[in-house]
Amino acid sequence: MAQYARGGAAAVAVIRLCNPPLNTLSLPTLRALEREVKHANVDPTVKAVVICGANGKFSAGADIRVFSNTDRGGVSSLESIISLIEKSEKPMVAAIEDMAFGGGLEVALGCHYRIAHVHARVGLPEVTLGLLPGAGGTQRLPRLIGVPAALDIITTGKHVPAAEALKLGILDELVEQNTVEAAISFAERVLGQPIESRRLCLKQTPRLPNMEAVFEEARVKVKKQARGCFSPEVCIQAVQASTYLPFTEGIRKERELFNLLITSGQAKALQYVFFAQRAMGKWALPTGVSWKTKAPQPIQRAAVIGLGTMGRGIVVSLLKAKIPVVALEQDKKHLELGRGAVMSLLEREALRMQKNGQQLDISKRGLLQFTLDFGMLRDVDLVIEAVFEDMALKKEIFRKLSLVCKPEAFLCTNTSCLDIDEIASVTSHPDQVVGTHFFSPAHVMKLLEVVYGSRTSPTAIATAMSLGKAMGKIGVLVGNCFGFVGNRLLNRYNEQTYFIIEEGSTPEEVDKVLEEFGFKMGPFRVSDLAGLDVGWRSRKVQGLTGDKMPLGLPPRQRGSKRYSPLPDILCENGRYGQKTGKGWYLYDKPGGREAKSDPWLHNFLSEYRRTHKIATRTVTQDEILERCLYSLANEGFRILSDGIASCPEAIDTIYINGYGWPRHRGGPMFYASEVGLPTVLAKLQRYAEANPDIPGLQPSAFLQKLVALGSPPLKQWLSLVGSQNSKL
Ligand code: NAI
Repeated sequence: MAQYARGGAAAVAVIRLCNPPLNTLSLPTLRALEREVKHANVDPTVKAVVICGANGKFSAGADIRVFSNTDRGGVSSLESIISLIEKSEKPMVAAIEDMAFGGGLEVALGCHYRIAHVHARVGLPEVTLGLLPGAGGTQRLPRLIGVPAALDIITTGKHVPAAEALKLGILDELVEQNTVEAAISFAERVLGQPIESRRLCLKQTPRLPNMEAVFEEARVKVKKQARGCFSPEVCIQAVQASTYLPFTEGIRKERELFNLLITSGQAKALQYVFFAQRAMGKWALPTGVSWKTKAPQPIQRAAVIGLGTMGRGIVVSLLKAKIPVVALEQDKKHLELGRGAVMSLLEREALRMQKNGQQLDISKRGLLQFTLDFGMLRDVDLVIEAVFEDMALKKEIFRKLSLVCKPEAFLCTNTSCLDIDEIASVTSHPDQVVGTHFFSPAHVMKLLEVVYGSRTSPTAIATAMSLGKAMGKIGVLVGNCFGFVGNRLLNRYNEQTYFIIEEGSTPEEVDKVLEEFGFKMGPFRVSDLAGLDVGWRSRKVQGLTGDKMPLGLPPRQRGSKRYSPLPDILCENGRYGQKTGKGWYLYDKPGGREAKSDPWLHNFLSEYRRTHKIATRTVTQDEILERCLYSLANEGFRILSDGIASCPEAIDTIYINGYGWPRHRGGPMFYASEVGLPTVLAKLQRYAEANPDIPGLQPSAFLQKLVALGSPPLKQWLSLVGSQNSKL
């Protein structure tokens, strides 16, 4: 609700957007805003107006649910209310505290002046929801700050810190104290000054000599980043309209483009992802214990064991969350290596944060300590183990931790697939043991799978989830099984890609199809980047590779299941990917980045097919896509019925944030629901018939059940799983 209050002596009215917690512009808020603006306009005692937000926040923007709500109950559109503000004859001043995003910033752009607190941020994030700023933002912002800066803000949806916004000209003044009071004084100062030049609708978008080239460059840039998501491109069209259309026609064009986007499947997918992600913090166990009932324990000091690829990033993430860290390695050489790596990561992070107006200060004594001595872990509240993926080693570490650490310390493992219960079994407090599966690079990647073992206490879950949040991660609670959710899905996807190239395709073709679908990198390029040896080591431990196999077993079979030894053979040939200069592709040197097609690999594949009497066939693009994506969703249905993920949204959140699934496709489970479960089932049945030895293609019982029940919408799947299997 908007509240109307008198300001200072010169009768400055203060309109306060009030819709806690973020003052989103819901229909009632809009109705109140319109009423108060109209009232101020006609009230002769009011000389100027300050628009601000209640509780120290301007506004996080339009309520997403309003976007697609056709029944507005007679409430005017946000654009027309903004136009009312802009046309007012009385100076309108936006007092921005904390944030003005989306519709919030559009309201501020309709005001004649904008004053903000130094710590405020502004932005137009609609593009990330598959939309464009549809209340004049694409027309007013370029008029105010020019095309290049407006394009940058509108096509990325980034948050702009106040200092940068001032430089760009979005803001007129920054204040360090009370923003609303400053805005009232400001309004008094500008009373009597002509308003005409402050109305953005009357301005021209500044012309540039190379305007066409600017738009072209922006198009190339978004095309590269958007991977098939079309809202950034449509945002460009809208901004471009501000350069050749008069304001009112530009607004009409903006509306037309907005309507195009809102009815697109992509906006639906992106909004689904937004809500799915937001819901992950609200974890719950079938026992009824949940985020609401279980408080996390404070973590005042943490330790990280192992400073390899993962440990380094975890140390940096902890420090960014202002948690002092003890970092432990196995020997002096690795400790020094780890120290160097952590320090250089910290330097880079500090620089990056500085650019965004933030600070990373690690100079405080005792904030970061490096050691070889387990005794240093005596008083830490939480330990994250990130040593090699080897059960015997992990158990040895946890045995030591159990002896050294205080009993109430939480013991976390960053294992990517091992059994949490087995690790916990060697400790004296298995209820304190929890999986915290970070993704590489750990200081960048947002995903954190919090893995719940059979004896993990709800307090340990609450603490790991809250720690993840403090580290800026999206924590998703998952059950304990080999590979948890993410890697279990990934294994299914990868095995399809190997089978497909065995049957006649190539890494290039498979990568192209999946990149066209929207993955940033196809599976073979990802594998070259991550290193083929990682999976090889894991398969060796699982007894899947050559030397541990019973004699006489066909190399392409494990029991009755098909197995592809292709990645193992590549590793045996020293082809670990980028790090060795060759893998599925060829690189100009070890560590090289540019993948080239490798004639060796193609000859090898032909030879391999001859040896194993595989008739080479053309695998169509549709088959590549369907087998890869439907086998992912199929495993997702199994994961749901096994109770490893609490809901389809959890699976989608994991696969989007940890495995490069394109957000605008909504995640594998959302995608399956959009394609239609009967279609997914029918295709899987067809591929399973053709490949009876590939279990990943056998339709899961839960998928079959859903189709038999008439393919209910995704929201209802959970209620149909039955909780008897839940590992959560
Ligand atoms: P890494 O091989 O890069 O580093 C492991 C580190 O542990 C090495 O620096 C090693 O010296 C240290 N270490 C070994 N034994 C030790 C001991 N007894 N005491 C102290 N330090 C010891 O391994 P990476 O890739 O960092 O993996 C660590 C864990 O994270 C593994 O469980 C892995 O499965 C998991 N993980 C790895 C991901 C990746 O992309 N690399 C992603 C997610 C999880």
